[in-house]
Amino acid sequence: MNVRIAPSILSADFGHLADEIARIEAGGADWVHIDVMDGRFVPNLTYGAKVIETVRKLTALPLDVHLMVVEPERYVETFAAAGASTLTLHAEVAPHMHRQLCRIKEAGCLAGVALNPSTSLEAVREVATDLDLLLVMTVNPGFGAQTFIRHSIDKVRRARALLDASGSRALLEVDGGINRETIAEVWRAGADTFVAGHAVFASPDPGAEIAALRQLCMETV
Ligand code: DX5
Ligand code: ZN
Repeated sequence: MNVRIAPSILSADFGHLADEIARIEAGGADWVHIDVMDGRFVPNLTYGAKVIETVRKLTALPLDVHLMVVEPERYVETFAAAGASTLTLHAEVAPHMHRQLCRIKEAGCLAGVALNPSTSLEAVREVATDLDLLLVMTVNPGFGAQTFIRHSIDKVRRARALLDASGSRALLEVDGGINRETIAEVWRAGADTFVAGHAVFASPDPGAEIAALRQLCMETV
């Protein structure tokens, strides 16, 4: 299994976004994680199509767009056109999840579902084989640099088992509080894709940090 590191630009210096993206790309980042927040699903506001489009022009890396918004279906086509590679909506605001996933795929993107820490894995059981990506939140979404919720390690383990048992080929991503102290345990629990915001961008050398995170996983194979 490959380790995929997806730095979140939420913690980047937006005054120097081009340099920040260039540094993580040169440092071996696999994806760029873009956190879209609407001030309704989460108590914070960030950015939308304009920033996706801007980042699209700055890098060849896949753009992993995390939709922390109510009514995510309103943005599928626009964000796909702006250059999103993956669109991940939250189960808590997806009553028609199967239809919403189909729509994301029709727009040409990989389709993901994210689960808040308090949301059961049962929310995705029936669509497990329709998923390209399952995102287990390891903090409550809304802000960067929060503390990793330790009991989510067991949830990642159960998510891995659910995907394997259903024959799903979905990637298993974790997001929130991923750093040198937490990454290896989550990797051992079965995650393969790691969002890291603060850990990467608060580092004086983001590229070295990406390499260190990857190395910590490889050492624990
Ligand atoms: C949290 C966001 C995360 C955030 C992670 O709401 O979904 O992607 O940027 O940040 P860190 O790695 O700093 O916890
Ligand atoms: Zn995120």
